[in-house]
Amino acid sequence: MTHYSNRMIFIHWLTLALLVAAWFFGHELAEATDESHASLAGYIVHGLLGAAVLLLTVARLFFRRKDGTPAAIGNTAMDKFAKGVHHMLYTVLFLLPVSGVVTVISSDAGHALLSGDASLLPKDGGYEHVFSHEVHETLFTILLVLVLVHVMGALKHQFIAKDGLMERMLPRRK
Ligand code: HEM
Ligand code: HEM
Repeated sequence: MTHYSNRMIFIHWLTLALLVAAWFFGHELAEATDESHASLAGYIVHGLLGAAVLLLTVARLFFRRKDGTPAAIGNTAMDKFAKGVHHMLYTVLFLLPVSGVVTVISSDAGHALLSGDASLLPKDGGYEHVFSHEVHETLFTILLVLVLVHVMGALKHQFIAKDGLMERMLPRRK
């Protein structure tokens, strides 16, 4: 096996697109809360994007088992580190949306969404004592750092080592 399967490749890039959108809408949501005018739609859009990431990550781990992965390109300490980063990425891709769901459930946002009453949504400072909100923000920062390291590694392979690693994660013609 020299490449990831097409469905693994599709999910890899779709996840990237969904993360960018969830980031944007999450930021908008936090800003709206700070200004005490968040909307139910804002929660629904951000929550659905995040839930899609969670479902795709579960599907991806299942396909990973079924389809397998190409053999490691090398066995250096850096290759082992890259593998560790992949595992941490999967962990955060799972825990980040879960912490978002827990935030909704354990705050006034849950009541607001269930009753369809936007006036119940948390206002400025409304998440101060919600621990999972802290966790959600921290996991997002960790995700950004991991993705940065991951992309730097991919660029190193592409432009310095020039070993064709990127091809393994790009769609191929049959
Ligand atoms: C991988 C998926 C997700 C990403 C990348 C993500 C990202 C973010 C970001 C960047 C923020 C803003 C943090 C800030 O600036 O303070 C945020 C806030 C939030 N997210 Fe997510 N999130 C994800 C999934 C979810 C899910 C599935 C839910 C719930 C169903 C959720 C619920 C929330 C809530 C309630 C807030 C707080 C909004 C506020 O402070 O007013 N998130 N998220
Ligand atoms: C421009 C951005 C990105 C580039 C250029 C990129 C590139 C790559 C490449 C070339 C591989 C294959 C590595 C190998 O064969 O050993 C890979 C694997 C992987 N990427 Fe990315 N990636 C990007 C963004 C992301 C993002 C945003 C995530 C998740 C948050 C992610 C998660 C992963 C994971 C978990 C693997 C390991 C796949 C496995 O073995 O199961 N990547 N990436």
